[in-house]
Amino acid sequence: MKVLDIEGVSFTYEDGTPALKGVSLSIDEGEKVAVVGPNGAGKSTFLHLIAGFRTPFEGSLKVMGERLEERTADQVRRHIGLLFQDPDDQIFMPTVEEDVAFGPVNLGLDRVEDRVIQALRCTSIEDLAKRKPHRLSHGMKKRVAIAGVLAMEPELLLLDEPTAGLDPRSRSDLIELLRNMKRTMLMATHDLEAAAEIVDRVVLLNGSVVFEGGLSELMSKDDALERAGLEPPQIARLFKRLGAMGYGPQGVPVTLDQGVAEAVRVIEREKGRSRGRND
Ligand SMILES: Nc1ncnc2c1ncn2[C@@H]1O[C@H](COP(=O)(O)OP(=O)(O)O)[C@@H](O)[C@H]1O
Ligand SMILES: [Mg+2]
Repeated sequence: MKVLDIEGVSFTYEDGTPALKGVSLSIDEGEKVAVVGPNGAGKSTFLHLIAGFRTPFEGSLKVMGERLEERTADQVRRHIGLLFQDPDDQIFMPTVEEDVAFGPVNLGLDRVEDRVIQALRCTSIEDLAKRKPHRLSHGMKKRVAIAGVLAMEPELLLLDEPTAGLDPRSRSDLIELLRNMKRTMLMATHDLEAAAEIVDRVVLLNGSVVFEGGLSELMSKDDALERAGLEPPQIARLFKRLGAMGYGPQGVPVTLDQGVAEAVRVIEREKGRSRGRND
């Protein structure tokens, strides 16, 4: 089942700024995809378009098989949960539990209490239920905002720069949370390290789609990232240097786990070599 099916979408802002040109993308149920690109690449515009906030646009955009147009936007939006870049744009109720309940109540959904409990559990913030959300840390606010989105049980989760502005610990906790979450998601980010840990596939956007595929494949296309002004994950840079020193990996590791596996291979190979020399 295609959750998202986009063909040839172009969009220009009212003031004449072109933001997207001929963008196509299809996402199957359960897939996690990242739209990566530098500032101004059109990532947020793209997510807002999918969320039905900006019509009209050129091309065709379907969510769960339903075509998004001005008159269907309200209906199509029900399939989608959008996490804004700044949680302060999303959180406004006096307590965390009321905030998480807001979406389902507003949409007239059933099982509100159950949805709230599930969402708080999924984001590991059950303890914060009675707290005032605007007093929480940025990382915790982000979790509250995610819980609020999850409570609507959307078929497609859209995340705009989910790791932006987080301290290292909350960032890695959030990456872990999103990585383990079994949901169809599309995240916009310039944090390739986070993308590597969370998604199956990346789309490099710079107004139009420059590349689509695995991150390690993108990494092996030498100047694509450079031209887009993006920073590769540390682990990929480490192995690039090792490669230049003659300890070449077989592929381009982009996640910590892949890096560990590759490092073990290199160490074993070196052990074999030095054993050969000592014999
Ligand atoms: N409300 C707006 N009005 C006019 N131009 C905009 C507006 N929002 C964004 N843009 C422009 O559209 C382009 C894409 O922006 P955006 O989608 O925010 O990129 P990203 O999220 O990748 O940083 C940029 O050139 C930006 O300046
Ligand atoms: Mg943006």
